[in-house]
Amino acid sequence: MRSLTKVMAVSAIAAMALAGCGRSDSGSGSGSSGSGGSDKFPKDALIGVSLPQKTSENWVLAENLFKTDLAAAGFKADVQFANGGVTEQQNQIQSMVTKGAKVIVVGAIDGSQLGTQVKAAKDSGATVIAYDRLLKNTDAVDYYVAYDNFKVGVLQGNALLDGMKKKKANGPYNIELFAGSPDDANAQVFFDGAMSVLKPKIDDGTLKVVSGQTSFNQVVTQGWKAENAQKRMDTLLSANYTSTAIDGVLSPNDTLARAIITSVKAAGKPVPIVTGQDSEVESVKSIMAGEQYSTINKDTRNLVKATIEMIQAIQKGDQPKINDTKSYNNGVKVVPAELLPPLIVTKDNAKEAYANDPTLSKITG
Ligand code: BGC
Repeated sequence: MRSLTKVMAVSAIAAMALAGCGRSDSGSGSGSSGSGGSDKFPKDALIGVSLPQKTSENWVLAENLFKTDLAAAGFKADVQFANGGVTEQQNQIQSMVTKGAKVIVVGAIDGSQLGTQVKAAKDSGATVIAYDRLLKNTDAVDYYVAYDNFKVGVLQGNALLDGMKKKKANGPYNIELFAGSPDDANAQVFFDGAMSVLKPKIDDGTLKVVSGQTSFNQVVTQGWKAENAQKRMDTLLSANYTSTAIDGVLSPNDTLARAIITSVKAAGKPVPIVTGQDSEVESVKSIMAGEQYSTINKDTRNLVKATIEMIQAIQKGDQPKINDTKSYNNGVKVVPAELLPPLIVTKDNAKEAYANDPTLSKITG
């Protein structure tokens, strides 16, 4: 997990940014009790933030940033992890509703299992924001804030091809595919984005998935757990690669990328091109050491900042910033979204990509 220093530095920057926003809004005239003007709710209202399990560093960073920056913006914050699973997350959201939270921000473990709780939130007059992961099959979700998940997958697919081409100019290339946890709505979208690039190359013979496992259901990693990816990779290697080289692996995130690399090394094979996501400290080190090929920079500071700006707009009764009204159909409605642009990072651009990140810039030098 990233250092406390980083979290504190990050929070300070975000707090400064928020303080800046506050200053430019100070003419609006409503008092801190929120009694005046056309405020939708008081400026110091309770905001609930329900986060999933700590399956990657970004969630831990988000917890710290939400706590510090919601407080810096004048709100009361109730920020919870649901390490125990879906039932715990359901109970946490219900309790935020009971405590009178005016906005509930949800990073769902399972986006399809919170319908009852978010409906209760809406019935109580709260606004529901899906954070990073979409809430599915419910109309009780107002907004979605995330990095562009399909784009993440496209960038991963392209990085896999580019990395393999650099090592060996022409195919065919032997590859394997991994996806994230099927209960996380993002996992399918990442996979679809990557397959929009890779499928045509599989069809024309440039890429060969030696195991034959190419459908989402065959390649998922339950719970985004490293041990599940490592086990599957062990099996793939012993069943298909005893006398065949593996050129590349599509990995949906950094935690799984490192597990895949561990498995390949244990089998005594050279490390293939492996993609990732999240810019986790250990993966950035691995990229700089020439092992993992790529990651994605989805700076958590910017995602939390965008979410808090959305909460501030809602508090004032304003329309929050939305830049996508078509991509995220959750099965019941198209959820208006603010999508941020993800950035691909390899050893070539790492220094530049992390220049303003106090922890990662130390690794990239
Ligand atoms: C997030 C990824 C993360 C994964 C596992 C996804 O929903 O978008 O950034 O790697 O969850 O925690």
